[in-house]
Amino acid sequence: MSKLRATITGVGGYVPQYRLTNDELSRLVETNDEWIMTRIGIKERRILKEKGKGSSELGVKAVNELLEKTGTDPGEVDLLICPTVTPDMQFPATANVISDKAGITNAFSFDLNAGCSGFLYAMSTAARFVESGAYQKVVVVGAEKMSSIVDYQDRATCPIFGDGAGAILMEPTEQDHGLKDEILQVDGSGRKHLHQKAGGSLKPASHETVDAREHFIYQEGQQVFKAAVAKMADVSVEIMNRNQIAPNELNWLVPHQANMRIIEATARRMGIKREQVMINIQRYGNTTAATLPLCLWEWEEKLNKGDNLIFATFGAGFTWGAIYVKWGYQGSNGK
Ligand code: UT7
Repeated sequence: MSKLRATITGVGGYVPQYRLTNDELSRLVETNDEWIMTRIGIKERRILKEKGKGSSELGVKAVNELLEKTGTDPGEVDLLICPTVTPDMQFPATANVISDKAGITNAFSFDLNAGCSGFLYAMSTAARFVESGAYQKVVVVGAEKMSSIVDYQDRATCPIFGDGAGAILMEPTEQDHGLKDEILQVDGSGRKHLHQKAGGSLKPASHETVDAREHFIYQEGQQVFKAAVAKMADVSVEIMNRNQIAPNELNWLVPHQANMRIIEATARRMGIKREQVMINIQRYGNTTAATLPLCLWEWEEKLNKGDNLIFATFGAGFTWGAIYVKWGYQGSNGK
């Protein structure tokens, strides 16, 4: 029997209705459309406005669409992994909440936190379960209500992030497609440049932490930018080279959507054209663990069986990596 590989067999996604435009942001902080477009490349981001709704609300909508499109009964799902930095609560895991809401009752589920590389790490984790032969249907759902940790008084971070969720189904195949190679990296010393100061066991919530606005994202933009440009491109080029994919043989780069300039620098280093890159940062901003599946969600119709895709991310940790996938189906109807 040939080696089992984990292949993506369907995609679901969801973004909330509300569009937070650059014009609206410029009424909250001192900024403007021109600065945001030239420095970041974001026109608007979606925001989950309704009170009492967290990331699971977004995640379950993406999962429901995924299950419906692929004709999967929730009871058939073996495992659900939810990469997120904005869980509904510290515990239980948002994955447990999503499973419950989606009627996934015959599975186990857990969250995974790897910042903006969460979806990539979770794809890799899911693939190991599938390749073992013990698990047939594994859902990975990146779900983020980033607006819950964005400081709308901080002009350096508030234009960047948006809310959304995207999900994929992974199943075993003996054919020559699916997840073929990966490079995943971490440098935890990078944490000083990008983190949330309070709310964890190190600094539990108190009046002081709230007054000091320490429950929001803290980011030293330039430090993160420099590392992201170098690291995301390094691994993307390395995975291309070691799989002998020439620039014209790569169908799609699926990059984390943090900053248009980081995406362009990565594409340049890989020697590929803009038409080979999935870019929707203009409309959704940085949805952290949801950027990669939201790209797949929008591009699914255009993908062909056998297409070469490279996924690449960089984020808090620092975490970064690249995964090479040979796409396994045609069109948007799952298998
Ligand atoms: O996904 C997680 C990983 N995160 C990232 O990949 C983010 C990486 N970093 C970045 O994308 C960029 O560093 C930012 C978009 C966050 C900032 O862009 P930058 O080109 O690095 O700007 P900067 O921080 O160097 O600031 C340049 C100037 C400053 O003014 P002075 O000191 O030159 O007078 C800022 O105060 O731009 C100012 N500035 C703004 N001006 C208008 C900062 N934010 C804004 C703003 N509107 N929103």
